[in-house]
Amino acid sequence: MFFLILFLFIGKISGISYSQPNFSFNALWNPNGTTILNETFIGFDLLDFFIDQNNTFYIPNRNTGQILLFSQRNLTKTISINLTNSSTIFVKTNGNIYVDTFYSIYGGISEIKYNMIINPIKRMNLCQQCFDLFVTENDILYCSFTERHQILAKSLINNWNLLLIVAGTGTQGSTSTTLRYPHGIFVENLTSNLYVADCGNDRIQLFQSEKLTAITIVGNGSINITINLNCPTAIILDTSKYLYIADSGNNRIIGQEINGFSCLIGCSNSFGSASNQLNQPLSLSFDNSGNIYVNDRGNNRIQKFNLIRPECFSYITINDPSRLTTDNGGCFLCDATVFNSTTTWVRFIGAGGTQLATTPPLSNRCRTCAAGWYRGSLPAPGMTVNGTVCYVWNSDNCSMPNQISATNCGSFYVFGLVAPQACLRRYCTI
Ligand SMILES: *[C@@H]1O[C@H](CO)[C@@H](O)[C@H](O)[C@H]1NC(C)=O
Ligand SMILES: *[C@@H]1O[C@H](CO)[C@@H](O)[C@H](O)[C@H]1NC(C)=O
Ligand SMILES: *[C@@H]1O[C@H](CO)[C@@H](O)[C@H](O)[C@H]1NC(C)=O
Ligand SMILES: *[C@@H]1O[C@H](CO)[C@@H](O)[C@H](O)[C@H]1NC(C)=O
Ligand SMILES: *[C@@H]1O[C@H](CO)[C@@H](O)[C@H](O)[C@H]1NC(C)=O
Ligand SMILES: *[C@@H]1O[C@H](CO)[C@@H](O)[C@H](O)[C@H]1NC(C)=O
Ligand SMILES: *[C@@H]1O[C@H](CO)[C@@H](O)[C@H](O)[C@H]1NC(C)=O
Ligand SMILES: *[C@@H]1O[C@H](CO)[C@@H](O)[C@H](O)[C@H]1NC(C)=O
Ligand SMILES: *[C@@H]1O[C@H](CO)[C@@H](O)[C@H](O)[C@H]1NC(C)=O
Ligand SMILES: *[C@@H]1O[C@H](CO)[C@@H](O)[C@H](O)[C@H]1NC(C)=O
Ligand SMILES: *[C@@H]1O[C@H](CO)[C@@H](O)[C@H](O)[C@H]1NC(C)=O
Ligand SMILES: *[C@@H]1O[C@H](CO)[C@@H](O)[C@H](O)[C@H]1NC(C)=O
Repeated sequence: MFFLILFLFIGKISGISYSQPNFSFNALWNPNGTTILNETFIGFDLLDFFIDQNNTFYIPNRNTGQILLFSQRNLTKTISINLTNSSTIFVKTNGNIYVDTFYSIYGGISEIKYNMIINPIKRMNLCQQCFDLFVTENDILYCSFTERHQILAKSLINNWNLLLIVAGTGTQGSTSTTLRYPHGIFVENLTSNLYVADCGNDRIQLFQSEKLTAITIVGNGSINITINLNCPTAIILDTSKYLYIADSGNNRIIGQEINGFSCLIGCSNSFGSASNQLNQPLSLSFDNSGNIYVNDRGNNRIQKFNLIRPECFSYITINDPSRLTTDNGGCFLCDATVFNSTTTWVRFIGAGGTQLATTPPLSNRCRTCAAGWYRGSLPAPGMTVNGTVCYVWNSDNCSMPNQISATNCGSFYVFGLVAPQACLRRYCTI
């Protein structure tokens, strides 16, 4: 028996299935979102969605009763299982889907394997719907029973394993052992610490592994009240264990960093459908580039908020008027000795111009013999593009070009520059 259990553990596919970014820099997101999926795709009143590490979206569509898989806006797969008002979905690394089927013929929670066989999870059919579910790497399924004011868990390794109470007494309350209409949950890998969005108490509760007494870490009753919550409904963590919270009643997304909690998205204090507004954001998720996606329930849309790149915080500045395309002080400087093969992020400032030239300069300008200019389009806010720098040499406007990157940091650009292929060539500015 002992060996059998050991074998099961070794044979298991491990790894987390969702993206958990490591922001080794001061992360910021563009407060203006774009709609990645609207009601045509997600239906009305979507409660939850899932994004795996391949950036595949899993949508339990309440209108069609299907699970729809999208790669960005492209529908890649339809799983027809006749869902009724499904509230939550989770996908494991091996592709197995766990979905709420309480109102469907299957009842409770069901597992859908790659071969599309649907297995209702034994013992999970309590007479209440699971609002949010989470499956850990070691195959423990956690379920937030909102109406029961309780979080229950069950091992998936053995069908008939008993349900475990992991948080809440079954009666609503606002003590450290009780919950009031808990919504989203997140279980930290390795530690199994459980985070609960305790909506009815306007707080986030942390139940350390195997403890039934919680610490309030954000909101009503927390030791450090840095921000007030109004019915939080979802929580996710990055690898630094910083929290990101859907503060649903305040129509905003809250994030944590070294100095505490602050509003990241929807910070105008009013709900709405503008690109910088949300209306009852219910759940959120990262993609594998650190962008944030929000289920903006009241607007029946999934909004994408781009991560503003790290190079926007870490660059060197160059204020050198001799780089201007208007400079005609001679032809003797070369960037091949200034930059090397490793990208250096540069922000041009002051009298020396604020960006690379985007049209061919006259020859022998910016104090070099082959004046460099960026031939390409500049990126939108929060975005990075790779493009070509050309050099003006005799009648050739694009001699010995090289690749660079450009990032739009909102109010300025930074350029990822490398050494040109030869001298005397220089990056010129306007
Ligand atoms: C996050 O990135 C930093 C710097 O790149 C690294 O030192 C750290 O180990 C990473 N953390 C995790 C959990 O991967
Ligand atoms: C949803 O988006 C698609 C494609 O972007 C568009 O064709 C459609 O009209 C949109 N639907 C609604 C209801 O806005
Ligand atoms: C979506 O489909 C279009 C056209 O079929 C294709 O050009 C595009 O690359 C696809 N996008 C993704 C993210 O797969
Ligand atoms: C879904 O329901 C329809 C009609 O109720 C039925 O015809 C169909 O076979 C069902 N599909 C599945 C996969 O259960
Ligand atoms: C499903 O949701 C719709 C809309 O919210 C509601 O009218 C309907 O009664 C629900 N069905 C079930 C079986 O709960
Ligand atoms: C992501 O894609 C890879 C390769 O296509 C596949 O092996 C892996 O199972 C996928 N991961 C998930 C979570 O679907
Ligand atoms: C999650 O925890 C398991 C041990 O329980 C460990 O083997 C695995 O590397 C961890 N995964 C991540 C992504 O940290
Ligand atoms: C805040 O917490 C206290 C007790 O800790 C509770 O009585 C009160 O109802 C909570 N307030 C709100 C608005 O949730
Ligand atoms: C409160 O804030 C201090 C300083 O930022 C921190 O050291 C402490 O861990 C916080 N306590 C809780 C319970 O979050
Ligand atoms: C390239 O230049 C940067 C900035 O001057 C410097 O920090 C880095 O060490 C250089 N790399 C190499 C490989 O020479
Ligand atoms: C730009 O080029 C770099 C290095 O060649 C590559 O890693 C990166 O993915 C590219 N970025 C874009 C937006 O194409
Ligand atoms: C967001 O949109 C507003 C209004 O359109 C604009 O003023 C602002 O610069 C945008 N912010 C970013 C970071 O793009």
